[in-house]
Amino acid sequence: MTSNPSNHARYGGPEMAIDGPKTALIQTLLSRRSCRDFSDRVIDHQTKHLLFTAAQSAPTKSNLQQYSLIEIADPSIRQSLQQLFPSVAWAISAPLLVVIVGDLHRTQQINAAKGHEFRWDAADAFLNASVDASLALGFMIAAAESLSLGSCPISTIRESTAAIIRLLELPKGTFPICACAFGYPTQKHTTLSPRLPQSVVVHQDRYQPVDMDAIHGYDQTLTEVMGEPKPRYPERYGMPRESTWSDNLARQTSVRERSDFQSSCEQQGLWRRDQMD
Ligand SMILES: Cc1cc2nc3c(=O)[nH]c(=O)nc-3n(C[C@H](O)[C@H](O)[C@H](O)COP(=O)(O)O)c2cc1C
Repeated sequence: MTSNPSNHARYGGPEMAIDGPKTALIQTLLSRRSCRDFSDRVIDHQTKHLLFTAAQSAPTKSNLQQYSLIEIADPSIRQSLQQLFPSVAWAISAPLLVVIVGDLHRTQQINAAKGHEFRWDAADAFLNASVDASLALGFMIAAAESLSLGSCPISTIRESTAAIIRLLELPKGTFPICACAFGYPTQKHTTLSPRLPQSVVVHQDRYQPVDMDAIHGYDQTLTEVMGEPKPRYPERYGMPRESTWSDNLARQTSVRERSDFQSSCEQQGLWRRDQMD
């Protein structure tokens, strides 16, 4: 047992235990890590059903449930995904692959069927659907973890948003958020990825300025636990003397990634009200 939360492996410490009630759920959440290596073991129908029920148990804005979960079972669709995104072939071949979709289409259809006009502000509508979908995904991941299943969300699929929209026949008002791969892990224990200290993320009453010393400390912790991160965009920025989490954050966010996402969303009628069906 430890009295100092920063000793927990979640913050790079040596301990897995933490003070406070150790419910099975807390233990499951605190030890979750992404899994990128799945065995061939099939996930049975009942388990899948449980995972989807857990996803649907998440809170949802006004109970509008503005997301859809697309299980990808058709081998020809899996094959197309493999061709589109070879860097995540390991995820696309996972026993269960689900695409998480923000879904204003269903809302708009019901709205129209009742003779109304959809008049929500585009950004607010987009955010509501994104939050609903993210919570559903989070619940599904937590449920998977509690059933000894591994998982990994995959936003790589947004590198070709237009292709995903075509392949999965996503109607206007919908947008892909990410895929998520599920399966039984081949390795029992992989390293737990440490998070920023709570002092950086949890604010008391008012927003506190960013503590760059704490960020520097986190860089060191992450490198100690996970090894020096592979530098992002070396072709643009060269090889750093020492690669760190914050250096990579700066490199990654200085490059415009996924340039077809916004235009694809516009095509789906998500940003311009005049395009909404
Ligand atoms: C929305 C989202 C998209 C992600 N996309 C990818 C991805 O495309 N490829 C990948 O290997 N991991 C992906 N991840 C997993 C993150 O890299 C991972 O959660 C993060 O590095 C922290 O590690 P942990 O999950 O083991 O704690 C994604 C995670 C989220 C939440």
